[in-house]
Amino acid sequence: MRKTIIAGNWKMYKTIKEGQELVNALNRELYNLQNLDIVVCPPYTLLSCLADMLTESNIALGAQDLFWEEEGAFTGEVSAQMLKDAGCQFVIIGHSERRQYFAETNGSVNKKLKAALKHALTPIVCIGETLKEREANSTFKVLEGQLTGGLSGINQEEAARIVIAYEPVWAIGTGKTATSAQAEEAHKYIRDLLAKLYDLETAESIRLQYGGSVKPENISELMQQPDIDGALVGGSSLRADSFGDIARKAAGVLKS
Ligand code: PGA
Repeated sequence: MRKTIIAGNWKMYKTIKEGQELVNALNRELYNLQNLDIVVCPPYTLLSCLADMLTESNIALGAQDLFWEEEGAFTGEVSAQMLKDAGCQFVIIGHSERRQYFAETNGSVNKKLKAALKHALTPIVCIGETLKEREANSTFKVLEGQLTGGLSGINQEEAARIVIAYEPVWAIGTGKTATSAQAEEAHKYIRDLLAKLYDLETAESIRLQYGGSVKPENISELMQQPDIDGALVGGSSLRADSFGDIARKAAGVLKS
């Protein structure tokens, strides 16, 4: 059984005070939810103060990116060790906005992934096709390239510690969710590919999140799909009521 994982990607939103208010509300809303991982990924400036508020909580902390070097003259960057030091357990890697606006490639994703694993952070590796790629029928080819490139040199034991988020770029922040059938088709493809790259047991143990306009209204249907193990939530993670609803509904879906 794979443990459900619901993560909130706050992107570049929230001041310290706003973030504290949101985490206070989430702690109140979700303190009794069990049997799933709940993660919030705020901007770097909020990490350490929110870590203090989450010590007794069932909510874990994640960052939205990292740099692969240990330390050095890399102005503006933050290392895996620094994220651990700030209280992170998770880190998002290769989000499509990083690929689109900050020239992230499968090669840089791979280096960041290795740095995260080395420092025992759980990586949430994002992959997904653009609308143009979907319309050209190259979704599977794109996913294959992102997965084999991103996971290059990662062994079986390391792969089992990764979370993969399938996020079709056309569904992010657009209000257009992939249908649960489209999402499941991609997730199934990813799991089959992981079985080829590693083995069936490893592929069955890796958690696959769906991301792209996830909201309280669509989480249950998505979670009912056999290969969808959770969600990476953007817009709807910025409010305690919607993120709380999503987490509660996801926790309530029983898989056969
Ligand atoms: P969205 O973002 O839920 O606002 O579509 C998802 C993401 O970018 O991770």
